[in-house]
Amino acid sequence: MSAENQIDLFDVAGAVASAPPQDVDPELIPTDVKIPIPAGTYQTMEQMKAHCDRCHRCVLGENRTNAVIGEGNVHADIMLVGEGPGQTEDETGRPFVGRSGELLDKILASVKLTREQDVFICNVVKCRPPENREPTLQEADACKGYLLEQIRIVDPKIILLTGKTALRNLLGVKEGITKVRGQWIERGDRLYMPIFHPAYLLRNQSREKGSPKWLMWQDIQAVRVKLDEIQAQS
Ligand code: URA
Repeated sequence: MSAENQIDLFDVAGAVASAPPQDVDPELIPTDVKIPIPAGTYQTMEQMKAHCDRCHRCVLGENRTNAVIGEGNVHADIMLVGEGPGQTEDETGRPFVGRSGELLDKILASVKLTREQDVFICNVVKCRPPENREPTLQEADACKGYLLEQIRIVDPKIILLTGKTALRNLLGVKEGITKVRGQWIERGDRLYMPIFHPAYLLRNQSREKGSPKWLMWQDIQAVRVKLDEIQAQS
């Protein structure tokens, strides 16, 4: 199939369709940024992973070892969105497995949540930005269709946005994380909560009242309470 036909198939008009496109050739990959990723392109994370491993929608694809799609329970009520893979994540293909990831697991465990059972963890960009720099707006935009597909597939009730990249990219909120962390933001039928990024907590070790770690403890407890409420209602 020619590149032009590929573009036709993923035409923007299709982006509003909610039903999965039935006639999509599984070999057809929206790996070029000119090809949109309509809702319903993927039925599984594995299909998406196969595409992301060959994706060149932005320059991050040039130095990738592994695309890092995400991991956890694909039916979880909580999704956690980070910024982008670091070195260990790029090497292993798994999200949050470096020092930030260890801390994240401890934070989740403090309210009896695990990434295996209770959370689906992913990132704004699926490929590692060089030197662990912040992804550019262009890179985040190029990857956004994948993230939106992940949200559609998991269909979480709560989305935790770790750090400002996730907050800006998903909700368009430009305020700093310090200002908005811990607040519930309702959009559609989902609740979002911006929280500090674990890497920030690693740089701020104090546990005193009002410190970032102390605030994170308040936030994750609020998440636990909200999750219990939601699950009790359903
Ligand atoms: N690891 C990730 O997967 N994402 C981050 O944002 C940081 C570390």
